[in-house]
Order: sequence, then structure tokens, then C-alpha cells
Amino acid sequence: MTGFEQTYSAFGRLLEQELARRMAALDPESSVAKAMAYSLLGGGKRVRGVLTLACCEAVGGTAEAALPAAAAVEMLHCYSLIHDDLPCMDDDDMRRGKPACHVAFGEAVALLAGDALLTEAFLCLADISPAEAARSCVEALSAAAGPRGMVLGQELDLSYARESEQNLRRINSLKTGRLLEACALMGAACGGAGEDMAEALREYASCIGLAFQIKDDILDMTSQSALLGKPVNSDAHNGKATFASIFGLESAMQRAKELTADAESAVRTALPGDRAEFLSDLAWWLYNRDR
Ligand code: IPE
Ligand code: IPE
Ligand code: MG
Ligand code: MG
Ligand code: MG
Repeated sequence: MTGFEQTYSAFGRLLEQELARRMAALDPESSVAKAMAYSLLGGGKRVRGVLTLACCEAVGGTAEAALPAAAAVEMLHCYSLIHDDLPCMDDDDMRRGKPACHVAFGEAVALLAGDALLTEAFLCLADISPAEAARSCVEALSAAAGPRGMVLGQELDLSYARESEQNLRRINSLKTGRLLEACALMGAACGGAGEDMAEALREYASCIGLAFQIKDDILDMTSQSALLGKPVNSDAHNGKATFASIFGLESAMQRAKELTADAESAVRTALPGDRAEFLSDLAWWLYNRDR
């Protein structure tokens, strides 16, 4: 394993333990709690949680200080995936290599499991100290996830004209970029960073967020569901044009590469060499990912 992979795995283990601990505290008889644990545990790349922990360390904090924020964003992201897969949204029946939550538990329980993960995410944030950092995290996560961010992005994703590059960029920024920006802002807040540093990390995360969705759309066209853990050709099936389908795979990869280079330069400008290393590697690892 490379140094990057070792650090990523260590962050991932910390997160898995924290998420498992929080799920174990719920009512074991509850179907909703079972559905939450089913969707949340043992799957997913944990990009958002790892990004949160890494940004906290990059500004001189400890990963532990950002652990509640990292758990919160993984719960919130998991809620968004459960709802995204519902028949009324993308209508996808597989997620993280298993039947989607609504396939395994039924639509009503899946809907509630999503609601519950969203709510539980904000309970995690109450564990952050000092209180000023907790307040910043609540602000960052709610602004990113709600009607100014991901929810608006998901609304536009279902209906909006996608033909122009500008509109696609807006959808991708809202539905995916904002949550990654919140990870950077929360990691910075938990690490005690000042406003300029938080802003530089937010800019970095905004670029990787746009690149991330472009790559997700490329993989939807080029990968296999066994590798991806979710259905392929979902976008075409739902009539959703993407960067990749409108401008072609090559040009979409080129765009993702430019955004990744922008992310790298944002983080290298803001941080000294050794502190920027992991975040820079993370950006390129995401660009090169195959799932
Ligand atoms: C999928 O996110 C949804 C998008 C915003 C593209 P991920 O690719 O991070 O999903 P997991 O968490 O690894 O399953
Ligand atoms: C997901 O975009 C965005 C979310 C906020 C959940 P997609 O609909 O492309 O994500 P996948 O491909 O289902 O993971
Ligand atoms: Mg979707
Ligand atoms: Mg989807
Ligand atoms: Mg997709």
C-alpha cells in the first residue's frame, strides 16, 4: 500500500468504528434502525468522512476532533443515496453492492431510514467542541444539504434543462459539490482554522466535487454494475444528459482533470508541502477511481 492508501484506510477504520458505535445505540427491534445500519455500514468509499478528517488534520487539528462531523456527513450522504434510489427519484435497485434500501425494506421504511439518518447527522454535530466549532458545522452542513444545496440540486436534476454546460455545472455543484465543500468547512472548523484557510479548503473541495460528479457520470456509462455496486446506464435510462453524454467521454475526462488540477493548486497554495500532500493525492485518487 502507498502512504496515501495507508492514511486513507486508517481514516476509514476510525469512521467505520464510529458509525457502528452510533448505530449500535439505536433500538435493535426497530426496522428503521435496521435499515439505517444496513445502508450505512460496511459499504461506500467514505470520501466525505475521510475528507472531513483530512481537512481537520491539514490545518493542525486531530482526526478525533472532527470525527462527529465526519460521521454526520456520512450519515447525511447515506440518507441522500437511499432517497436518490427510490422509485420516485432515480428508481435504482442496487446500492453499494446490495439491494437498495427500499428493495430490502420497502419504500416506507426506506423513506424513514433516510429521514432518520438526516436527523441523526445533526445529533452527531452536537458532540463537537468547542461550541463555536459545533455552530460552524451545523451552519455548513445544513446550508450544503438543504434547499440552498443538495436538495435544490436533486430537484433540478429531475427537471432542469441540462443542455448547457452552465446548467450542468450548477446541478453538479448543488447536488454533489456543496456537500464536499461542507466537509472542508467542517474539518477546518474542528481543527480551529481561520476564515482564509477554511475558504481555501472550500475552494479545493468545490473543484473535487465537480470533478467527482463528472467521473460518476462517466462510470455510469463505462463501468459494470458488479464493480460499481450500483446499476450502470441509470442516467441514460432516466433521460439525464450529463457532461459525458453531451460532450463525450474524452472531453468529460479532460474537464475532470482540469478541475482536479485546480483543486491541487488551491490546496498547495493554502498549505505547506507536507500538509497539502494527502489532500492533493486524494484529488488525483478520486480522478483515477474506477468505482
Ligand atoms: C455517489 O457518491 C453519489 C454521488 C454524489 C455521485 P459516492 O460515489 O461517494 O458513493 P459511496 O459513498 O462510495 O457509496
Ligand atoms: C447523486 O447523483 C447525487 C446525490 C445527491 C445523491 P447520482 O444519482 O448520479 O448518484 P448515483 O449514481 O445514484 O450514486
Ligand atoms: Mg440522482
Ligand atoms: Mg442516482
Ligand atoms: Mg450517478
